[in-house]
Amino acid sequence: MPYAAITGWGKCMPPAVLTNADIATFLDTSDEWIVTRTGMRERRISHVPATDLAAVAGARALACAGLDPADLDLIVYGSCSYDEQVPNSASGVQVLLGAANAGAMDINTACTSFLYGLSSASALVRTGVVRNALVLGVELISPYMDWSNRNVAVLFGDGAAAVVLQASGREEGVLAEHLGCHADARQVLRIRGMGCSYANRGVLYGHTQWDFDGQEIFRRAVKGMTQATARALAKGNIDAGAIDLVIPHQANMRIIESVAKLAHIPMDKVFLTVERYANMSAATVPVALVEALEAGRVRPGALLLTPAFGAGLTLCSHVIRWGERVTPLGTSTAALPPCTRSALEMVNDYRALAARRAESEPGLRAPRFAESGPLA
Ligand code: UT7
Repeated sequence: MPYAAITGWGKCMPPAVLTNADIATFLDTSDEWIVTRTGMRERRISHVPATDLAAVAGARALACAGLDPADLDLIVYGSCSYDEQVPNSASGVQVLLGAANAGAMDINTACTSFLYGLSSASALVRTGVVRNALVLGVELISPYMDWSNRNVAVLFGDGAAAVVLQASGREEGVLAEHLGCHADARQVLRIRGMGCSYANRGVLYGHTQWDFDGQEIFRRAVKGMTQATARALAKGNIDAGAIDLVIPHQANMRIIESVAKLAHIPMDKVFLTVERYANMSAATVPVALVEALEAGRVRPGALLLTPAFGAGLTLCSHVIRWGERVTPLGTSTAALPPCTRSALEMVNDYRALAARRAESEPGLRAPRFAESGPLA
């Protein structure tokens, strides 16, 4: 059975920066609180749709792999913030890339969507269903953020990145992984206002309220990422000491430190972006992977570990063997249109729209949620 080597990588970060000080202009918070509790200093706010971010990241990843878009067999779009529900986002990326021969599917496991997508695409490559796949992690959170809620508004940012997978005879790509879900706690992170439960109930799409039990998510994240890591390492018969670099989901600096400690991996082996980009949900790990490569932190043949968790509460950890090449074969000219507004101006627009909507809409109560146990 062939392996699914990662042969291309690319990111697309929107240029507008929202600092902690910007957020403190409209919420009762401070740079000091956000930095000490989360490690975050700034995040990005996109001026374009998510599929535009995705297409630029995808074009860069394809150029890096030296692969023509027409040679792609599959596009996997990992996200929980689709531009539209129907048609799916992967098909939008197919059009923008000109990858007319590719199948196109979306995967939503919230913050772990890229990694669940990586597992799915790797399996399809390894079993010979496809030869060349593009896996994206994309998130556009700013339009549906509840900017009046300081518990969540300080934590997230927008971004996108992608990798190219290609069938290979060498032992590369995902070597072992564990996928799981603490569904018994799924109610601790819910975004009210997104989904069919709210359709035709007078709620405008994008008018959200977040159910968010930060402490419970924190506790579950540490436990879930640590468990998933132990299971992935055991499956691959790999010792934690053999890991060269950890590229974790970056929801909170303190979560990352706890997981590293419990996994017996020193922090100097952990690659961090949380300070500059905050939590970009599905985009977090692939953006960090691309930046680790750009920073020369991934050596040829390196063993990488990518523990993550997200709403659901989904969790996973992947052990990835990097190939010999750590530099791009080519570069793409794909780029975003210029951004003429500041991040704070864009956020203030969302806030003004939300305030107007709130006057005319009913409360965001959904009729039925599945929280009870197995059916009797
Ligand atoms: O990818 C999945 C996404 N979710 C997560 O990863 C979240 C995981 N959880 C966390 O990262 C942390 O629980 C948070 C960063 C969300 C919160 O940190 P914490 O240390 O658990 O704080 P807390 O919730 O216990 O709140 C402590 C205090 C509270 O005030 P009182 O009750 O002590 O007076 C909060 O009201 O901090 C207050 N607080 C804030 N203060 C200033 C909460 N948010 C803020 C804020 N600015 N943004």
